[in-house]
This record gives sequence, C-alpha cells and structure tokens, in this order.
Amino acid sequence: MANIIVLAPQGQVGWELTRCAQTLGNVITLGREQLDLSNPEQIRRVVSELQPRVILNGAAYTAVDKAEQEPELAHQINAKAVEVLAEVAKQQQALLVHYSTDYVFDGSQPTPYREQDAVAPLGVYGASKLAGEQAIASVGCDYFIFRTAWVYGMRGKNFLLTMQRLARERDELRVVADQWGAPTWSRSIAEATAQIVAQVLSPTNPIDARALSGIYHLTCAGQTNWCEFARAIIAASPKQPVVHAIRSEEYPTPAKRPQYSVLDNQKLRETFGIQLPAWEQALNLCLHSNEA
Ligand SMILES: NC(=O)c1ccc[n+]([C@@H]2O[C@H](COP(=O)([O-])OP(=O)(O)OC[C@H]3O[C@@H](n4cnc5c(N)ncnc54)[C@H](OP(=O)(O)O)[C@@H]3O)[C@@H](O)[C@H]2O)c1
Repeated sequence: MANIIVLAPQGQVGWELTRCAQTLGNVITLGREQLDLSNPEQIRRVVSELQPRVILNGAAYTAVDKAEQEPELAHQINAKAVEVLAEVAKQQQALLVHYSTDYVFDGSQPTPYREQDAVAPLGVYGASKLAGEQAIASVGCDYFIFRTAWVYGMRGKNFLLTMQRLARERDELRVVADQWGAPTWSRSIAEATAQIVAQVLSPTNPIDARALSGIYHLTCAGQTNWCEFARAIIAASPKQPVVHAIRSEEYPTPAKRPQYSVLDNQKLRETFGIQLPAWEQALNLCLHSNEA
C-alpha cells in the first residue's frame, strides 16, 4: 500500500482528509508535534523518511487578519515550507496536493474567476498563498493546487461555528453583505481530493498526474454573500436573531477582502469529472452531519 501523508490532521480540511484518504493507502498523519513547518530541515528529513506516494498538505497559516502583523511567519509557512515540500515531493516522485485561496484575487472582476485570470492579492495572507503556488510550480514536482474558499465545518475556527455561537449569545447580528463568494464545506473538499487522488493511484486506468499538474478551482457551486450565508445558518439554529446586512466599511478588518471572489470550477469538472454540491446543499448536509 502506498504511503499517504496528511499534514495538519487537526485542521478543518486535514481532519476530513484523514478520513476520506483511508481507502487510498496507508495514511500517516503529521501534526505540528511531528512536523513543524517552520523548520525546513525537519520537513526534508521527516517526509523523505516516510517515502510517500502522495502528500496531502492541509496545513497553512490561515489567520487572514493576524498575517498583516506577522508577514514573515505567514510567508514561512505558506510559501517557504511549501517550496521545501515540493522539493521533497519531486525527489520522492510523490504527488503533492496543496490548497490555495480565492484571496489571491482582488475581487474586481464581475464574473467567476478562472485559473488563468490575473492574480492581485489584497493582503499578506493572499500574497503568501500566491507565493506558495508559484514555489510549487517552479520546483516542478507532480502537483495539484486546489484553490478553495470560505471553508467551514463542524470543527475548528470558522464562520459557521461563529454564527452559531453569536446566535446563542445575541438577539441581533450585523453581517457584511457586499462580499461575494462560495462557502465550501471542508468535507466536500476532502471528498473531491480523495476521488482525484484515487484516479491517480488507479491500478488499471491511472490519470497522468504530471500532465495534469496545475491549479484547479475547487469550491461548492453557486454564490452568496456573508450576510445571506449567516441567514442560512441562523435559519437552522434553535434561536434565531435578526441578521442585518451591513457594508464592509461598517466592519473594518486589518486585512482587506476581495468583494467578489467566486471561482469558476469548469476546469475541475472537465479534467476530473468532479463537481462539488451547491453551497446550500453542502451546508444542509454539514448541519446534519453529527446526527445519528
Ligand atoms: N479557512 C478558509 O476559509 C480557507 C479559504 C481558502 C483556502 N483555504 C486553504 O485551505 C487549506 C486548509 O485550511 P483550513 O481552513 O483547513 O485551515 P485550519 O483549519 O486553520 O488548519 C490549519 C492547520 O495548519 C496547521 N499549522 C499551522 N502552522 C503550522 C506549522 N508551523 N507546522 C505544522 N502545522 C501548522 C495548524 O496547526 P495548529 O492547530 O497546531 O496551529 C492547523 O491544524 C489551507 O491551505 C488554507 O490556506 C482556507
């Protein structure tokens, strides 16, 4: 059985990857205790020793606002460590699966972004993720970079859990209604990833990971804004505060976000025959995922 490394098994995506990858091979999880991504030497040693066939990198510096104060650390984890991972993947002839973000775009385009559209990150986080993408491409290992967006799930730090908490605590909420995107369930990302990796590892009819290496947009289908997303979450909550729509200027944050960062998933669909559910459908499945 091929060794499949999952980085950040406690992260939103890493947690789901750990589960979805079990049918693909011998899954080895490496959390921060086993592998600190701020230590390039450790990355080289630990990952090489495991001789992986696939590296699923769920780890990242994801604190979008804090990154404005910690640009070096964000760059270290999201770009430098990723470059080292790509080098080890190349040396081991392993496939590197990495995740990037809709925040590589500035959000000025009025239609869904395609992979080749011009990037122009508005903040440190987006810039560090973009540098990670570029590092992988220049190392030239076999790789898939899946740009995803607005990730949530029933664990970790995310918008869904924040809205559920605020619904319990408050009678009114104010949520920005002028930023558009596609909320994407962490499990949908992991399921799609596992299906694509299964195509690569197929003993009978494998797809060519080298020829297909590149960036793919991978988000739930449809689009919404944070306020409508909040309303959909609150509609399923036991207590339902009123949700007021506000403008981004009324909720200033250290990092500027793109106004419109919907990603076109056509390339993913045409290459791998995979399509994520509509965001409303995924949200509904997620909200009921803990039921017996
Ligand atoms: N969250 C979003 O809305 C979103 C949107 C677009 C793209 N993405 C991308 O999707 C991927 C997965 O994101 P996510 O939401 O699952 O992230 P997450 O829940 O914040 O998890 C990130 C994981 O990375 C680990 N990590 C951070 N620094 C590390 C280090 N120095 N060494 C080892 N591990 C380290 C964290 O470990 P600790 O718990 O120990 O800190 C955590 O488990 C990332 O590439 C992210 O950029 C996310």
